[in-house]
Amino acid sequence: MGYTIIKHPLIDHKMTIIRKKETSSMEFRQIVNEIATLMGYEVTRDLETEDIEIETPIGKAIGKRISGKKIGIVPILRAGLGMVEGLLTIMPAARVGHIGMYRDPETLKPVTYYSKLPKDVASRQMIIVDPMLATGGSLIEAIDELKRNGAKNIKSINLLAAPEGLKAVQEAHPDVEIYIAALDEKLNEDKYIVPGLGDAGDRLFGTK
Ligand code: PRP
Ligand code: URA
Repeated sequence: MGYTIIKHPLIDHKMTIIRKKETSSMEFRQIVNEIATLMGYEVTRDLETEDIEIETPIGKAIGKRISGKKIGIVPILRAGLGMVEGLLTIMPAARVGHIGMYRDPETLKPVTYYSKLPKDVASRQMIIVDPMLATGGSLIEAIDELKRNGAKNIKSINLLAAPEGLKAVQEAHPDVEIYIAALDEKLNEDKYIVPGLGDAGDRLFGTK
């Protein structure tokens, strides 16, 4: 496993809009969801299907339906919430768990304050969502929490990643495939992604 940068003109265009500092929270929220939908299409490309016989108004046909693992979406609060609706648009039956976490402003380490996951995480394809993968601390901790609860199949969707964070997650959890829309240059001294898009949670929810 490793990481995949999902390249698509629509994603690149929309990423540029959310990076711009003048983009409003309203537009930012809408576009983060749109990017999540587009990325979700790629991330689910390997779902198993089976043939089923159906009847169209004209006659019999063989169709396909998803037959493998059911999906569980897990946003890391708060910013991950901004991607959930976009994914539910194409996977309306998915279960949604939540992991609450923030980066301590002093230590910059993740602090977990909430965890509520579907009971059957062990049999689901779990997809963690969070717009930002900076030091990787939050994602590593979220994957640890899913694994403690029995999850065996985990993917992550992040809009932006820093090289050092991506490396840290891959080293800690080599079995998890990470999907990103862009790989940025580096982290600054406050561990923000450069050039990044700023604080994703604040931009989504209009705080600060
Ligand atoms: C942001 C972001 C990630 C985390 C990434 O959350 O949404 O969860 O930082 O940083 P890391 O890779 O260095 O751990 P933040 O702490 O700003 O909380 P919020 O979502 O509540 O705003
Ligand atoms: N969290 C954010 O919201 N933005 C960053 O650049 C890093 C962490």
